[in-house]
Amino acid sequence: MASNKKLLFLPGDGIGPEVMGEVRRVIDWMDKRRAVTFDVEERLVGGAAIDAEGAPVSDATVDKAMAADAVLLGAVGGPKWDEVPFELKPERGLLRLRKDMELFANLRPALCFDALVDASSLKAEVVSGLDIMIVRELTGGVYFGEPRGIETLPDGTRRGVNTQVYTTPEIQRVARVAFDLARKRQNRVCSVEKSNVMESGLLWREEVTKLHAAEYPEVEFSHMLADNCAMQLVRAPKQFDVIVTDNLFGDMLSDAAAMATGSLGMLPSASLGAADASGRIPALYEPVHGSAPDIAGQGKANPLATLLSFAMMLRYSFDLAEDADLIEKGVEAVLAAGHRTGDIAGPGSTLVSTSQMGDALLAALESRAA
Ligand code: IPM
Ligand code: MG
Repeated sequence: MASNKKLLFLPGDGIGPEVMGEVRRVIDWMDKRRAVTFDVEERLVGGAAIDAEGAPVSDATVDKAMAADAVLLGAVGGPKWDEVPFELKPERGLLRLRKDMELFANLRPALCFDALVDASSLKAEVVSGLDIMIVRELTGGVYFGEPRGIETLPDGTRRGVNTQVYTTPEIQRVARVAFDLARKRQNRVCSVEKSNVMESGLLWREEVTKLHAAEYPEVEFSHMLADNCAMQLVRAPKQFDVIVTDNLFGDMLSDAAAMATGSLGMLPSASLGAADASGRIPALYEPVHGSAPDIAGQGKANPLATLLSFAMMLRYSFDLAEDADLIEKGVEAVLAAGHRTGDIAGPGSTLVSTSQMGDALLAALESRAA
């Protein structure tokens, strides 16, 4: 019999624990009703870890994350930690996990469910049927580049520095992920940078072009400047299939793409590293939304992005496409039946709490698995 999958849960701050609670319920259901079982261990990250352990992620937690088959993270941050020194901010915990686990490829699908076309701030015809995959480089660029810091100059003024830097291998490995994904989708990749202004963007463009010609000539390939891409995402998002871009542009463009789908509360993500000698791929899954401190603890949060992140885990870490489909189709059914948390509420829908959304999903799973 296959051994249990070892999961590390890092609920984090704000609405993180609430939305992760709904994944626990799905895991319990799967234990009973599906062929796969999980061992779940839980640890602290972000502000919660600062309060209890003195750092936004402890060494022990990083070790556990590296040893787990997959990690699921809720959200980090909140106003409570505004005064914490920069190096200890809740976000640093997440960034350290990404860096130490070498999760260089961040997959952010933006998919508009039919039932939610009217929840988008864009016109229904612009977003209906939308299905984009943003592949964001996650361990390089200005997020980690050196030198960085704030210094005081001799005349007393201050100077802040961050460095945008990419190397050939960093660009190639994330571009490969994008091309490989495109082959299983609509076979189109758009590479996004600012090669008109930045040397690192020029290098990005040249390297992705070379890789395309050498290894993926059959994939339809184009380039776009990042500012134009932001505009195109709100003008005509359906022109895209896979977008591959750097860390900072990917951060911004994925938030923009999210709104096309109706709510940031709907978007899952997967962060993947390179396979080791045994073929194991380090992986962390998290919703794209943040900790939403304004609604934390009130049962108002939308758990669907986290549940869909768990579905991505089933698909990418465990090759359980059927189980992933079950959850994704379940989410579709729940939305089609009109269940809505506040972030996606609209006329004629039923406003539900976090756990009622979970109830509805479990009912949908049960009826589909029967
Ligand atoms: C994201 C978030 C993070 C980022 C923050 C929380 C550090 O915005 O995952 O998109 O900037 O990468
Ligand atoms: Mg972001």
